[in-house]
Amino acid sequence: MAITLYSTHCRSLATSSSSFQLCPLSSNLAYHQRVTFSQRFLASKVSLKSQPQSYQIPVHTQQQEGSVAASVPPVENGTSHKQLNAELFSVKSPQESRVEDGCEKDENESTVSITVVGASGDLAKKKIFPALFALYYEGCLPKYFTIFGYARSKMTDAELRNMVSKTLTCRIDKRENCNEKMDQFLKRCFYHSGQYDSQENFAVLDKKLKEHEGGKTSNRLFYLSIPPNIFIDAVKCASLSASSGNGWTRVIVEKPFGRDSESSAALTKSLKQYLTEDQIFRIDHYLGKELVENLSVLRFSNLIFEPLWSRQYIRNVQLIFSEDFGTEGRGGYFDHYGIIRDIMQNHLLQILALFAMETPVSLDAEDIRNEKVKVLRSMRPLQLEDVVVGQYKSHTRGGVTYPAYVDDKTVPLGSFTPTFAAAALFINNARWDGVPFLMKAGKALHNKRAEIRVQFRHVPGNLYNRNFGTDLDRATNELVIRVQPDEAIYLKINNKVPGLGMKLDRSNLNLHYAARYSKEIPDAYERLLLDAIEGERRLFIRSDELDAAWSLFTPVLKELEEKKIVPEYYPYGSRGPVGAHYLAARYNVRWGDLGTDVEH
Ligand code: BG6
Repeated sequence: MAITLYSTHCRSLATSSSSFQLCPLSSNLAYHQRVTFSQRFLASKVSLKSQPQSYQIPVHTQQQEGSVAASVPPVENGTSHKQLNAELFSVKSPQESRVEDGCEKDENESTVSITVVGASGDLAKKKIFPALFALYYEGCLPKYFTIFGYARSKMTDAELRNMVSKTLTCRIDKRENCNEKMDQFLKRCFYHSGQYDSQENFAVLDKKLKEHEGGKTSNRLFYLSIPPNIFIDAVKCASLSASSGNGWTRVIVEKPFGRDSESSAALTKSLKQYLTEDQIFRIDHYLGKELVENLSVLRFSNLIFEPLWSRQYIRNVQLIFSEDFGTEGRGGYFDHYGIIRDIMQNHLLQILALFAMETPVSLDAEDIRNEKVKVLRSMRPLQLEDVVVGQYKSHTRGGVTYPAYVDDKTVPLGSFTPTFAAAALFINNARWDGVPFLMKAGKALHNKRAEIRVQFRHVPGNLYNRNFGTDLDRATNELVIRVQPDEAIYLKINNKVPGLGMKLDRSNLNLHYAARYSKEIPDAYERLLLDAIEGERRLFIRSDELDAAWSLFTPVLKELEEKKIVPEYYPYGSRGPVGAHYLAARYNVRWGDLGTDVEH
C-alpha cells in the first residue's frame, strides 16, 4: 500500500485551485495522509510508514478553515486542470474501488487450506462453498489454496464436487467464463470423511493437506459449520492433529455461542484450551452485510450525521428484522434457542453497538471492538416488562393453510419458544440516556426485511405545525437504513408540494443501491471469509463483546423460561403481536415499518 504524507505547512502556502507545491514528506503523523484506495479497507489497514525520500504534490482547492486538503500523485506533463479536477472530485465508493483494484492477493509462496467442517450441512452448501467460489471468481483467493470438505458421511471428491456444484452461482454482473471458472474451482475442492471427535481422522486430513501444500508455508482455516455440542471436540482434534506447523491456524465458529452467560463462558473457556483468542473468528454474518458495514462510513465520514447522533436530536432508534417464512425444517434447532437468542442477542445487538458507539480511535479491529463493548456494557439491564414475545399460529389465506410453529414435527407440542420478540433497550451513557432502542424480530411475518430506523425529534416551534394537524409524529424526520432486501438509505423530509398553495408532504431523499451502483452486492459470507483469510478481525466478535451481549439477555431469558411466559399468538403472515405496539407506545414510539407512508 502506498501512503504519502505531506506537510500541513504546504497547505497554508496554497492560494487557489491552481496552485501546486512541492512538499517534502515527513513521518510526522500530524501531517496529512494520502492513502491510496488499493487496499480493501481504505484506511482500516493503514500502517503509517513514511517514505522520507520521495516527494508528492498536494493540490489545493479554495479551502475553508478546517477543510482537508486533497492530494494526487505527481502530475504528468500535460495533464489538464480539468482532468485533474475530475480525478480529484470523483470520489469512488469502496465498492467501485474494489472492482477496479480487485482483491489484494498475497502472491508469496504460502498456501491457504480451507477446511469446511460439516461440509454436507445446509450452511456449507448454501453459503460457504458459494462464497468461496465467488471469492475465487473475483480473484480474491490466494494463488495457492485448497478447499477440503470434512464430514462424517462417506463421499468421494467427485461426489463432493457434484454436491457443491449444485449451489454455485455466477455473479450476475460477470457471467463470462463461468463454467470454466467453476470447473477450475471444483478441481481445488476435496473431501475427507471423518468423525468430529477423532484425532486420528484429523491426522489423516493433516497428511492430505500437507500433500497439497507441497512444502510451502501452510496457513490453515477451519470453518466449523457444525452443531455447538461438537465444537470443542472438533476444535481439539483440528488443533492437536491438523494445525499448521509453520503458518497460521484460524478457526471460524458460527453461532450459537452458548445459550446464556454460563454456557457461553464455558464454551469460550474450552475453546481457549486449544486456541488463542486471536485464532478464534466468531462470525456474526450480519456484520458482513454491506449496509451494516456502511454504518461507520455514514456516521463518521459525513459531517451532517454525527452531530445529530445523540439524545439531543434522536427520539428513538428501531432495529427491525422480519422473515416471511417460519422455521420450516429448522424447528429442532430453533426450539432450543428461540428468536431472542437467534436474532436479537447477536445480529440486532451488534448493529445497535455499531450504531451507538463513540468514534473509535482508528478503524483497527481492536479500536472498533473496544467502542462496541463499551456500548454493550453501558446498557441498562433488560426488564421483563420491556419484552414482548409471540409465536405464530396457523393461518389460512387465499385457500392456503400456513402451519403453526408447533405444527413442525421437530417442535415439541405446547412449546412456548418465541418466534417473535420485541424489546425496549436503553444505553445509560451521556450520548444516549433516555433514548429507546426498540428491537423487533420475528418469523412468519408479512414481509422479509431488516432495517434500522432513526426517528428524529420534532422541530421545536415548527412554523409549519398547522400543516401537519395534530399528528406531529407524521412530521418527524426519519432516516431509514434498509439492510435488506433492496438495500437503500433514505431520509424522510417534509417538503412543499409544488404549486401556489402551501401544502406539505413527506418525501424521501433516497439512495437506492440498485439504482446507484451497478455492482452486485457481495454476500456477507464472502466478506467475512476473506477477512478471516486476511486476518482482519474487525467484523468478528471478541469474547468480551460476547460476554456483554449475554449479560444483557441472560436474566430476561431465564425469567421468561422459569415463569413459562406464554407467547402472544399471531397468525402466520401477519404483522406480529399487538403487544409490540403497546410496548412501543409506552415509550411514545410508533413502529416506523408499520406506518402509512412506509416505502415498500
Ligand atoms: C441466522 C438465523 O443467523 O440468520 C436464521 O439463525 C435466520 O434463523 C438468518 O433465518 C437470517 O439471515 P439472512 O442473512 O437471511 O437475513
